[in-house]
Amino acid sequence: MSNSIKLAILGLGTVGTGVINLINDNLDELKRRSGRDIIITEVGTRRQRDDIDSNIMQNSDLMAIAASDNVDIVIEVIGGTTLAKDVIMHAIKNGKHVVTANKALLAEHGNEIFAFAEANNVHVAYEAAVAGGIPIIKVMREALAANKIDWLAGIINGTGNFIMTEMRDKGRPFADVLSEAQELGYAEADPTFDVEGIDAAHKLALLASIAFGIPLQFDKVYCEGITGITLQDVNYAEELGYRIKHLGFAVRRDGQGNADDAGVELRVHPTLIPQDALLANVNGVKNAVLVNSHPLGQTLYCGDGAGAGATASAVMADVMDLVRVLGNTDCDDQGNSNQNNHGHHVPHLAFIPEQLSDTPILRAEQMITGYYLRVHAYDSPGVLADITRILSDAGINIDAILQKPAHKLGQVPVIILTLPVVESQMNLAIEKIEKLDTITDKVVRIRLDELA
Ligand code: HSE
Repeated sequence: MSNSIKLAILGLGTVGTGVINLINDNLDELKRRSGRDIIITEVGTRRQRDDIDSNIMQNSDLMAIAASDNVDIVIEVIGGTTLAKDVIMHAIKNGKHVVTANKALLAEHGNEIFAFAEANNVHVAYEAAVAGGIPIIKVMREALAANKIDWLAGIINGTGNFIMTEMRDKGRPFADVLSEAQELGYAEADPTFDVEGIDAAHKLALLASIAFGIPLQFDKVYCEGITGITLQDVNYAEELGYRIKHLGFAVRRDGQGNADDAGVELRVHPTLIPQDALLANVNGVKNAVLVNSHPLGQTLYCGDGAGAGATASAVMADVMDLVRVLGNTDCDDQGNSNQNNHGHHVPHLAFIPEQLSDTPILRAEQMITGYYLRVHAYDSPGVLADITRILSDAGINIDAILQKPAHKLGQVPVIILTLPVVESQMNLAIEKIEKLDTITDKVVRIRLDELA
């Protein structure tokens, strides 16, 4: 085969090493599918590694690799938002296509990076940035291109889902499961990104832009992690037929006649969902994204959301797409060949850049969700009546109530599930409940969604 495609891999951590292994394992498949030889010519690594093929140049100067004549596609898997950005911008300036798994970088600087790529007639591909090995970017950019997306909900952090699953199924302590997720290569360099929902918020920002054709707005994603979830709430939820999952939601709202409330909700938080919902049964490191679109309806995409093999699979899917772009030579009006043939590629955020919309992102107080409330009250007559009156005065519809027998000092945990309510109304109601003399603690609240 002629016309080799030359790859540079920047970063030899879990993902970079996974990409090298994938290429070694599946080289025949890659060649047969692309019709080209795919070779790694350079790797960017801080220290020389003796386990790397001697034909591959090892270099700690990433900017030099990004400009090298011996490289067609730059694979950025170093992570972070500073050096990674400089290197990617340099690669773009030098006419290289880029493949990246860096959701933090794209969520924060994607608008600038994609615009620069467009201007330089190259592509920045990022399948590996969202939901690991699930081809959700390709699905949303291409397979759903004829649909109007109303909402999506997803388990989009493998570490968090692994922790929640192990806690629920085996009662294992949080810190113990997190260490295992780190050993398995699931967690971010800074695992607070996983457990505080920041990583999921990065991914949600990307999904929402593709879904609704809006610019990336990571700073407007409402974000709650899983560190406050207790086994007690996990068990009460199960008793009521629900399961707590850490989910990202992107929802289009029409404002129900009030233009000020029309816009997009972007939120990441623990959520009670029905136990028999498919998403409730996605466990371990698996991710899943449920997309509700018109006219297709609901579709679910599921698979490993983190780890070397899953992420390398997504990285190389992008490489294979770009190999086809690179192999496609067009001529312009003057007969000059256009190696990149960029015009035939799907736009970065799936919509033509000039057509991105300024639909506002709604504030937290405008969001609409159901709720799980855990209220601790003294065991005395009228307590329940006081709580339910406050909720009913606020127009909040109660769906279920569970009251446990008094367990300590005459206190009773009261669990209440509500139908969807605007967050500002729920805030006011909780404020009033917490002012009751009979209430002993802060109200615990977790959002609830029937996913219907
Ligand atoms: N830390 C991420 C996760 C890796 O656990 O999902 C994949 O993006």
